[in-house]
Amino acid sequence: MKKNGTSPCILGIESSCDETSAAILQGFDVKSHIVYSQMVHKKYGGVVPELASRAHEHAISQVVHSAFETCKFIPRDIDAIAVTYGPGLMGALLVGLNYAKGFALARNIPFIAVNHIEAHLYAPMLEFPDLKPPFLCLLVSGGHTMLVDVKGIKDFVILGTTRDDAAGESFDKTARLLKIGYPGGPVIDTLSDSGDPKAVRFPRALLEPDSLDFSFSGMKTAVLNYVKKHDALSNKEKADIAASFQEAVVDVLKEKVRRAIVATGHTQVVIAGGVAANRRLRTVLKNMEDTLNIELFYPPLEYCTDNAAMIAATGVMYYRQGWISNLDIGAIPNLKLV
Ligand code: KG4
Ligand code: ZN
Repeated sequence: MKKNGTSPCILGIESSCDETSAAILQGFDVKSHIVYSQMVHKKYGGVVPELASRAHEHAISQVVHSAFETCKFIPRDIDAIAVTYGPGLMGALLVGLNYAKGFALARNIPFIAVNHIEAHLYAPMLEFPDLKPPFLCLLVSGGHTMLVDVKGIKDFVILGTTRDDAAGESFDKTARLLKIGYPGGPVIDTLSDSGDPKAVRFPRALLEPDSLDFSFSGMKTAVLNYVKKHDALSNKEKADIAASFQEAVVDVLKEKVRRAIVATGHTQVVIAGGVAANRRLRTVLKNMEDTLNIELFYPPLEYCTDNAAMIAATGVMYYRQGWISNLDIGAIPNLKLV
């Protein structure tokens, strides 16, 4: 395959939680992208760390082979390998990290360790390669909820973060309370179509008037109390609770994004992370574009949730800067953005 200096060919690997994923990018052009979502956790209603590590170990070689099979590249074409080294589950991270180290050593190519949270921030660039910092990012995933002022590559200021649960976590916990399936976000998103968002008024924790922090635990407790009071919920009642809960989360996210835009003056706003796949959130934020005079960017659904394309995209940026990692870097389960 012909190479081009500004468009390095990067193999990305992601294994921080319950998705085993590999992607091959040339520049920001996604040549192949494979995601294996572990279904073993479904019956537990949440990710079981030991089962996640085992499932990654079982899948990783096949996932990487499939990534090569679905494009014209061969291992010799890869200029560098990028892999998540945190945050995430220790055992799960180690599977991807060690696979990537082995690949880098065997092929004698640069190895780039990527912060998973940072990669979520850049995921929209896969769809909009001309998007450049500075921009405001609302990162809403299963593990994180934060507003980030992205001033440049690796140059961030966290404007606000959750004081308790992450937004995705609150979707997952609510779905578990309603016994409607896992992962909770997509299930609630779909079920809400047949529910009334005004059926139950769940609390919206907006905190202090100028606060850009979040709090979702009160909302979760309110759902718990409601479910306790009304046992044997019908399907229609469950749909109403799902839609009302989703509306409350979206209202909070919308108000925090509005405050952050006013506070920073940013005109480019990026929504990233698994919860960015939520259709109601997308619609509501899109409707703010004209009133607030902003341009909204969100990644295609497949790049919102955990994926290796965003890891490889971060690898492309690092490679262009000459930022290469040492092979002795270890997995860091509680790695922070800054
Ligand atoms: O970014 P992600 O794949 O993993 C983390 O880094 O955490 O996010 C997963 C989270 C889960 O909590 C899942 O329920 C939520 O994203 N999610 C959604 C939707 N799709 C995934 N939440 C709301 N609506 C969705 N459509
Ligand atoms: Zn993630």
